[in-house]
Amino acid sequence: MVASDCLCASRTISARLRCRDVCNPALPLVAVQAMRVLIGCEESGIVRDAFLARGHEALSVDLQPTRRPGPHYQGDIFDVLDFPWDLAIVHIPCTHSSVSGAKHFAAKKMDGRYYAGNALWMRAWKGCEHIPRVCFEHPVSVISSLFRKPDQIIQPHMFGHPELKTTCLWLRRLPHLVATQELPPPYTQRVWRLGPSETRARERSETYPGIADAMASQWGAAAESVAA
Ligand SMILES: C[S@@+](CC[C@H](N)C(=O)[O-])C[C@H]1O[C@@H](n2cnc3c(N)ncnc32)[C@H](O)[C@@H]1O
Repeated sequence: MVASDCLCASRTISARLRCRDVCNPALPLVAVQAMRVLIGCEESGIVRDAFLARGHEALSVDLQPTRRPGPHYQGDIFDVLDFPWDLAIVHIPCTHSSVSGAKHFAAKKMDGRYYAGNALWMRAWKGCEHIPRVCFEHPVSVISSLFRKPDQIIQPHMFGHPELKTTCLWLRRLPHLVATQELPPPYTQRVWRLGPSETRARERSETYPGIADAMASQWGAAAESVAA
């Protein structure tokens, strides 16, 4: 094997196996190359930090400042979307698309907020076309009819939180998330019962840490098998 044939830096297990036999017997079979991960519309930093903890390069972006210190761009998602990310996980606001707010749709169609809110979702999905692996997360919403049905529907109780909060995932080149800690009923609907407060909207939309960990551990590793 000549130096230019060396595949030690490859992400694929088959290539690394070959290199381990020939030029580097100590080469670990699990690919170590970090992914570049964008967490769109995230001010909590929860998903970003789950990827950082596993050695990936991750950035959160939101119009708001990040609540946890870490790599964060405060601004419009479209300012950073064209970067060559390996994976994007995006939480577009659901204010004008969630079916729980359907009674306001007529008024929002009159002043255009319904169209602008849903157009943001579509624009961001199209803006991710160059990104190999993509997940858009949203509650039950009109996106299912305006765009297409989600690829997966998850609940917090599948990931160690005894709660109900139906969450839809639209996936591109990503496997379904596998439940990491399925809990038995009873389940609460904690986020829907939060009383009025300045932080209610934020608390309602914050990603559950168990789901963030599942995304980072399963999709961080899934990149290798997809690439192979
Ligand atoms: C549904 S919340 C998602 C919260 C997220 N799950 C978290 O844990 O932080 C939607 C977020 O999108 C942000 N946002 C809205 N429009 C945006 C834009 N054009 N660019 C970046 N962030 C945006 C809002 O500030 C809000 O924090």
